[in-house]
Amino acid sequence: MTAPARIVSGMRPTGRLHLGHLLGTLRTWRELQAAHECFFFVADWHALTTDYDRSGGVAENVVEMVIDWLASGIDPERATIFVQSAIPEHAELHLLLSMITPLGWLERVPTYKEMQQQLTGRDLSTYGFLGYPVLQAADILMYRAAKVPVGADQVPHVELTREIARRFNHVFGEVFPEPQALLAAAPRIPGLDGRKMSKSYNNAVFLGEDAAAVNAKLSRMMTDPRRARRRDPGDPDDCPAYTLHRIYCTREELEYTAHGCRTATIGCLECKQIMIARAEAELGPIRERRHALAARPDDVRDVIVRGNRRAKAVAEETMATVRRVVGLGAPL
Ligand code: TRP
Ligand code: SF4
Repeated sequence: MTAPARIVSGMRPTGRLHLGHLLGTLRTWRELQAAHECFFFVADWHALTTDYDRSGGVAENVVEMVIDWLASGIDPERATIFVQSAIPEHAELHLLLSMITPLGWLERVPTYKEMQQQLTGRDLSTYGFLGYPVLQAADILMYRAAKVPVGADQVPHVELTREIARRFNHVFGEVFPEPQALLAAAPRIPGLDGRKMSKSYNNAVFLGEDAAAVNAKLSRMMTDPRRARRRDPGDPDDCPAYTLHRIYCTREELEYTAHGCRTATIGCLECKQIMIARAEAELGPIRERRHALAARPDDVRDVIVRGNRRAKAVAEETMATVRRVVGLGAPL
Protein backbone atom coordinates (compact mmCIF):
# COMPACT_ATOMS: atom_id res chain seq x y z
CA MET A 1 0.00 0.00 0.00
CA THR A 2 1.31 3.43 -0.83
CA ALA A 3 1.42 6.05 1.89
CA PRO A 4 -1.41 8.60 1.76
CA ALA A 5 -0.49 11.77 -0.06
CA ARG A 6 1.12 14.36 2.14
CA ILE A 7 -0.67 17.70 2.33
CA VAL A 8 0.73 21.16 3.01
CA SER A 9 -1.15 24.41 3.27
CA GLY A 10 -0.63 27.77 4.87
CA MET A 11 -2.56 30.89 5.75
CA ARG A 12 -1.29 34.39 6.23
CA PRO A 13 -2.04 35.72 9.71
CA THR A 14 -4.51 38.42 8.73
CA GLY A 15 -6.36 38.58 12.04
CA ARG A 16 -9.64 37.01 13.14
CA LEU A 17 -11.02 34.40 10.76
CA HIS A 18 -14.59 34.53 9.49
CA LEU A 19 -17.28 32.35 7.99
CA GLY A 20 -15.61 32.58 4.57
CA HIS A 21 -12.44 30.97 5.94
CA LEU A 22 -14.46 28.31 7.73
CA LEU A 23 -16.50 27.30 4.70
CA GLY A 24 -13.78 27.86 2.11
CA THR A 25 -10.69 26.47 3.79
CA LEU A 26 -11.08 25.06 7.27
CA ARG A 27 -13.78 22.56 6.35
CA THR A 28 -11.47 21.21 3.63
CA TRP A 29 -8.56 20.97 6.03
CA ARG A 30 -10.75 19.17 8.54
CA GLU A 31 -11.67 16.56 5.96
CA LEU A 32 -8.11 16.16 4.73
CA GLN A 33 -6.65 15.63 8.19
CA ALA A 34 -8.82 12.55 8.64
CA ALA A 35 -7.12 10.64 5.82
CA HIS A 36 -3.79 12.32 5.14
CA GLU A 37 -0.62 13.44 6.80
CA CYS A 38 -1.19 17.19 6.97
CA PHE A 39 1.06 20.16 7.67
CA PHE A 40 -0.89 23.35 8.28
CA PHE A 41 1.10 26.44 9.07
CA VAL A 42 0.86 30.16 9.72
CA ALA A 43 2.70 32.01 6.94
CA ASP A 44 3.93 34.88 9.08
CA TRP A 45 6.90 35.72 6.86
CA HIS A 46 4.49 36.00 3.95
CA ALA A 47 2.60 38.66 5.90
CA LEU A 48 5.76 40.76 5.86
CA THR A 49 6.03 40.67 2.07
CA THR A 50 3.13 43.11 1.84
CA ASP A 51 3.12 44.65 5.35
CA TYR A 52 6.69 44.87 6.59
CA ASP A 53 5.95 48.27 8.09
CA ARG A 54 3.03 46.90 10.12
CA SER A 55 4.72 43.89 11.66
CA GLY A 56 3.70 44.84 15.21
CA GLY A 57 0.54 42.77 15.30
CA VAL A 58 1.86 39.65 13.60
CA ALA A 59 2.74 37.59 16.70
CA GLU A 60 -0.67 38.20 18.23
CA ASN A 61 -2.43 37.40 14.96
CA VAL A 62 -0.55 34.11 14.76
CA VAL A 63 -1.95 32.92 18.08
CA GLU A 64 -5.45 34.21 17.33
CA MET A 65 -5.47 32.36 14.04
CA VAL A 66 -4.32 29.09 15.56
CA ILE A 67 -7.11 29.45 18.13
CA ASP A 68 -9.59 29.78 15.26
CA TRP A 69 -8.15 26.66 13.60
CA LEU A 70 -8.38 24.61 16.76
CA ALA A 71 -11.87 25.88 17.55
CA SER A 72 -12.93 24.89 14.02
CA GLY A 73 -11.78 21.33 14.52
CA ILE A 74 -8.26 21.29 13.14
CA ASP A 75 -6.85 18.58 15.36
CA PRO A 76 -3.21 18.76 16.50
CA GLU A 77 -3.26 15.01 17.08
CA ARG A 78 -3.91 14.50 13.38
CA ALA A 79 -2.31 17.48 11.70
CA THR A 80 0.98 19.21 12.34
CA ILE A 81 0.21 22.84 13.15
CA PHE A 82 3.21 25.15 13.03
CA VAL A 83 4.53 28.64 12.41
CA GLN A 84 6.68 29.32 9.35
CA SER A 85 9.16 31.65 11.06
CA ALA A 86 9.87 29.03 13.73
CA ILE A 87 11.43 26.85 11.04
CA PRO A 88 14.36 28.86 9.63
CA GLU A 89 14.99 26.04 7.15
CA HIS A 90 12.20 27.62 5.06
CA ALA A 91 14.39 30.69 4.63
CA GLU A 92 17.38 28.58 3.67
CA LEU A 93 15.42 26.65 1.08
CA HIS A 94 13.92 29.88 -0.22
CA LEU A 95 17.43 31.21 -0.71
CA LEU A 96 18.62 28.13 -2.58
CA LEU A 97 15.51 28.00 -4.77
CA SER A 98 15.95 31.70 -5.56
CA MET A 99 19.28 30.83 -7.20
CA ILE A 100 17.56 28.77 -9.89
CA THR A 101 14.34 30.76 -10.34
CA PRO A 102 14.39 33.04 -13.41
CA LEU A 103 13.14 36.57 -12.80
CA GLY A 104 10.77 36.24 -15.75
CA TRP A 105 8.88 33.42 -14.03
CA LEU A 106 8.22 35.65 -11.04
CA GLU A 107 7.25 38.71 -13.04
CA ARG A 108 4.71 36.61 -14.93
CA VAL A 109 2.90 35.34 -11.81
CA PRO A 110 -0.57 36.95 -12.09
CA THR A 111 -0.80 37.92 -8.40
CA TYR A 112 2.38 39.96 -8.75
CA LYS A 113 0.92 42.65 -10.99
CA GLU A 114 -2.64 42.28 -9.66
CA MET A 115 -1.64 42.95 -6.08
CA GLN A 116 0.55 45.86 -7.11
CA GLN A 117 -2.48 47.40 -8.80
CA GLN A 118 -4.97 46.58 -6.04
CA LEU A 119 -2.95 47.23 -2.90
CA THR A 120 -2.14 50.86 -3.50
CA GLY A 121 -0.61 52.64 -0.55
CA ARG A 122 1.73 49.73 0.16
CA ASP A 123 5.30 49.32 -0.89
CA LEU A 124 5.31 46.29 -3.15
CA SER A 125 8.43 47.21 -5.08
CA THR A 126 10.59 45.00 -2.89
CA TYR A 127 12.70 41.93 -3.54
CA GLY A 128 10.70 40.15 -0.81
CA PHE A 129 7.38 40.71 -2.52
CA LEU A 130 8.67 39.55 -5.91
CA GLY A 131 9.99 36.44 -4.17
CA TYR A 132 6.68 35.67 -2.43
CA PRO A 133 6.02 32.58 -4.60
CA VAL A 134 9.58 31.29 -4.13
CA LEU A 135 9.03 31.33 -0.38
CA GLN A 136 5.73 29.54 -0.94
CA ALA A 137 7.53 26.95 -3.08
CA ALA A 138 9.98 26.41 -0.21
CA ASP A 139 7.05 25.93 2.20
CA ILE A 140 5.57 23.26 -0.02
CA LEU A 141 8.70 21.45 -1.20
CA MET A 142 10.19 21.32 2.30
CA TYR A 143 7.59 18.71 3.24
CA ARG A 144 7.66 17.01 -0.16
CA ALA A 145 3.92 17.59 -0.37
CA ALA A 146 1.86 15.81 -3.01
CA LYS A 147 -1.21 18.02 -2.64
CA VAL A 148 -1.73 21.65 -1.73
CA PRO A 149 -5.29 22.73 -0.91
CA VAL A 150 -5.65 26.36 -2.00
CA GLY A 151 -8.12 28.82 -3.43
CA ALA A 152 -8.18 29.54 -7.17
CA ASP A 153 -6.03 32.66 -6.76
CA GLN A 154 -3.19 30.51 -5.44
CA VAL A 155 -3.10 27.95 -8.23
CA PRO A 156 -0.44 29.85 -10.22
CA HIS A 157 1.80 29.71 -7.14
CA VAL A 158 1.50 25.94 -6.99
CA GLU A 159 2.18 25.76 -10.74
CA LEU A 160 5.31 27.81 -10.23
CA THR A 161 6.31 25.50 -7.38
CA ARG A 162 6.11 22.58 -9.82
CA GLU A 163 8.35 24.40 -12.28
CA ILE A 164 10.87 25.24 -9.59
CA ALA A 165 10.85 21.62 -8.38
CA ARG A 166 11.41 20.39 -11.93
CA ARG A 167 14.28 22.76 -12.45
CA PHE A 168 15.88 21.87 -9.12
CA ASN A 169 15.58 18.15 -9.86
CA HIS A 170 17.06 18.70 -13.32
CA VAL A 171 20.04 20.67 -12.04
CA PHE A 172 20.81 18.80 -8.81
CA GLY A 173 19.04 15.43 -9.00
CA GLU A 174 15.62 14.08 -8.07
CA VAL A 175 14.75 15.45 -4.65
CA PHE A 176 11.31 17.00 -4.86
CA PRO A 177 8.02 15.47 -5.99
CA GLU A 178 5.90 17.88 -8.04
CA PRO A 179 2.94 18.99 -5.92
CA GLN A 180 -0.57 19.43 -7.22
CA ALA A 181 -3.07 22.11 -6.27
CA LEU A 182 -6.22 20.79 -4.66
CA LEU A 183 -9.04 23.19 -5.44
CA ALA A 184 -11.68 23.26 -2.74
CA ALA A 185 -15.18 22.58 -4.02
CA ALA A 186 -16.55 25.32 -1.77
CA PRO A 187 -18.33 28.18 -3.49
CA ARG A 188 -17.27 31.76 -3.02
CA ILE A 189 -18.83 32.89 0.25
CA PRO A 190 -20.59 36.23 -0.04
CA GLY A 191 -20.37 38.74 2.77
CA LEU A 192 -23.29 40.61 4.27
CA ASP A 193 -23.32 43.09 1.38
CA GLY A 194 -23.10 40.45 -1.34
CA ARG A 195 -19.43 41.07 -2.17
CA LYS A 196 -16.88 38.40 -1.31
CA MET A 197 -16.67 38.03 2.48
CA SER A 198 -13.59 39.87 3.68
CA LYS A 199 -12.45 41.62 6.81
CA SER A 200 -11.41 44.64 4.75
CA TYR A 201 -14.91 45.00 3.27
CA ASN A 202 -16.40 45.08 6.76
CA ASN A 203 -18.99 42.49 5.71
CA ALA A 204 -17.86 39.44 7.66
CA VAL A 205 -19.27 37.19 10.36
CA PHE A 206 -16.30 36.33 12.57
CA LEU A 207 -15.77 33.00 14.27
CA GLY A 208 -16.48 33.43 17.95
CA GLU A 209 -18.94 36.30 17.58
CA ASP A 210 -21.81 35.88 20.01
CA ALA A 211 -25.08 34.35 18.87
CA ALA A 212 -27.00 37.63 19.00
CA ALA A 213 -24.43 39.37 16.80
CA VAL A 214 -24.42 36.52 14.28
CA ASN A 215 -28.21 36.58 14.18
CA ALA A 216 -28.31 40.36 13.75
CA LYS A 217 -25.69 40.33 11.00
CA LEU A 218 -27.16 37.47 8.99
CA SER A 219 -30.68 38.91 9.42
CA ARG A 220 -29.62 42.00 7.53
CA MET A 221 -27.60 40.12 4.93
CA MET A 222 -28.33 41.20 1.37
CA THR A 223 -31.12 39.36 -0.44
CA ASP A 224 -32.59 39.42 -3.95
CA PRO A 225 -33.22 43.16 -4.50
CA ARG A 226 -36.45 42.28 -6.31
CA ARG A 227 -37.97 41.50 -2.92
CA ALA A 228 -38.13 45.13 -1.89
CA ARG A 229 -41.63 44.51 -0.55
CA ARG A 230 -42.92 41.41 1.17
CA ARG A 231 -45.39 40.67 -1.66
CA ASP A 232 -42.72 40.86 -4.40
CA PRO A 233 -41.51 37.43 -5.49
CA GLY A 234 -37.79 36.78 -5.71
CA ASP A 235 -35.29 34.28 -7.02
CA PRO A 236 -32.98 32.38 -4.63
CA ASP A 237 -30.37 32.22 -7.39
CA ASP A 238 -30.04 35.99 -7.15
CA CYS A 239 -29.93 36.06 -3.35
CA PRO A 240 -26.52 36.21 -1.60
CA ALA A 241 -28.03 34.94 1.66
CA TYR A 242 -29.29 31.84 -0.11
CA THR A 243 -25.69 30.78 -0.78
CA LEU A 244 -25.58 30.05 2.95
CA HIS A 245 -28.91 28.23 2.77
CA ARG A 246 -27.37 25.92 0.19
CA ILE A 247 -24.52 25.17 2.54
CA TYR A 248 -26.47 24.75 5.74
CA CYS A 249 -30.08 23.77 5.07
CA THR A 250 -31.71 20.39 4.55
CA ARG A 251 -33.31 19.48 1.24
CA GLU A 252 -36.78 20.11 2.69
CA GLU A 253 -35.75 23.50 4.00
CA LEU A 254 -34.24 24.41 0.64
CA GLU A 255 -37.42 23.48 -1.17
CA TYR A 256 -39.65 25.27 1.33
CA THR A 257 -37.64 28.48 1.25
CA ALA A 258 -37.05 28.52 -2.53
CA HIS A 259 -40.75 27.97 -3.19
CA GLY A 260 -41.70 30.56 -0.59
CA CYS A 261 -39.34 33.06 -2.18
CA ARG A 262 -40.60 32.55 -5.73
CA THR A 263 -44.25 32.77 -4.66
CA ALA A 264 -43.73 35.51 -2.08
CA THR A 265 -45.32 33.32 0.56
CA ILE A 266 -42.52 33.80 3.07
CA GLY A 267 -40.66 36.93 4.04
CA CYS A 268 -36.88 37.23 3.86
CA LEU A 269 -36.58 37.36 7.62
CA GLU A 270 -38.39 34.06 8.13
CA CYS A 271 -36.42 32.56 5.28
CA LYS A 272 -33.12 33.64 6.79
CA GLN A 273 -34.04 32.47 10.29
CA ILE A 274 -34.21 28.91 8.96
CA MET A 275 -30.66 29.20 7.65
CA ILE A 276 -29.39 31.04 10.74
CA ALA A 277 -30.58 28.23 13.03
CA ARG A 278 -28.56 25.73 10.99
CA ALA A 279 -25.48 27.95 10.81
CA GLU A 280 -25.67 28.44 14.55
CA ALA A 281 -25.47 24.68 15.04
CA GLU A 282 -21.96 24.84 13.59
CA LEU A 283 -20.96 28.26 14.93
CA GLY A 284 -22.17 27.67 18.51
CA PRO A 285 -19.71 24.88 19.35
CA ILE A 286 -16.89 26.76 17.57
CA ARG A 287 -17.66 29.81 19.72
CA GLU A 288 -17.55 27.72 22.90
CA ARG A 289 -14.27 26.07 21.99
CA ARG A 290 -12.86 29.44 21.04
CA HIS A 291 -13.69 30.91 24.44
CA ALA A 292 -12.25 27.89 26.22
CA LEU A 293 -9.01 28.05 24.21
CA ALA A 294 -8.64 31.81 24.64
CA ALA A 295 -8.70 31.20 28.40
CA ARG A 296 -5.83 28.70 28.11
CA PRO A 297 -3.12 30.49 26.11
CA ASP A 298 -0.44 28.14 27.44
CA ASP A 299 -2.20 25.13 25.92
CA VAL A 300 -2.39 26.90 22.57
CA ARG A 301 1.29 27.74 22.78
CA ASP A 302 1.98 24.09 23.60
CA VAL A 303 0.19 22.94 20.47
CA ILE A 304 2.32 25.31 18.39
CA VAL A 305 5.57 24.28 20.08
CA ARG A 306 4.84 20.60 19.51
CA GLY A 307 3.89 21.23 15.89
CA ASN A 308 7.01 23.31 15.31
CA ARG A 309 9.10 20.44 16.64
CA ARG A 310 7.50 17.93 14.27
CA ALA A 311 7.83 20.25 11.29
CA LYS A 312 11.43 21.03 12.19
CA ALA A 313 12.37 17.34 12.17
CA VAL A 314 11.07 16.94 8.61
CA ALA A 315 12.64 20.23 7.49
CA GLU A 316 16.05 19.21 8.85
CA GLU A 317 15.87 15.95 6.96
CA THR A 318 14.95 17.66 3.70
CA MET A 319 17.66 20.28 4.11
CA ALA A 320 20.31 17.66 4.80
CA THR A 321 19.48 16.12 1.42
CA VAL A 322 19.26 19.49 -0.31
CA ARG A 323 22.64 20.66 1.00
CA ARG A 324 24.21 17.38 -0.04
CA VAL A 325 22.90 17.44 -3.61
CA VAL A 326 23.71 21.13 -4.05
CA GLY A 327 27.21 20.41 -2.84
CA LEU A 328 27.15 22.43 0.34
CA GLY A 329 27.89 21.42 3.88
CA ALA A 330 31.63 21.46 4.14
CA PRO A 331 32.74 20.37 7.61
CA LEU A 332 32.72 23.29 10.03
N1 TRP B 1 0.08 32.39 -0.29
C1 TRP B 1 -0.95 31.73 0.48
C2 TRP B 1 -2.15 32.67 0.63
O1 TRP B 1 -2.00 33.87 0.58
C3 TRP B 1 -0.46 31.32 1.83
C4 TRP B 1 0.66 30.33 1.73
C5 TRP B 1 1.97 30.56 2.03
C6 TRP B 1 0.54 28.97 1.32
N2 TRP B 1 2.68 29.42 1.83
C7 TRP B 1 1.83 28.44 1.40
C8 TRP B 1 -0.53 28.19 0.90
C9 TRP B 1 2.09 27.11 1.04
C10 TRP B 1 -0.27 26.87 0.55
C11 TRP B 1 1.03 26.33 0.62
O2 TRP B 1 -3.24 32.19 0.83
FE1 SF4 C 1 -33.31 35.34 -0.30
FE2 SF4 C 1 -34.99 33.89 1.12
FE3 SF4 C 1 -35.44 36.50 0.72
FE4 SF4 C 1 -35.69 34.79 -1.29
S1 SF4 C 1 -36.92 34.85 0.58
S2 SF4 C 1 -34.65 36.76 -1.37
S3 SF4 C 1 -34.06 33.31 -0.84
S4 SF4 C 1 -33.75 35.58 1.87
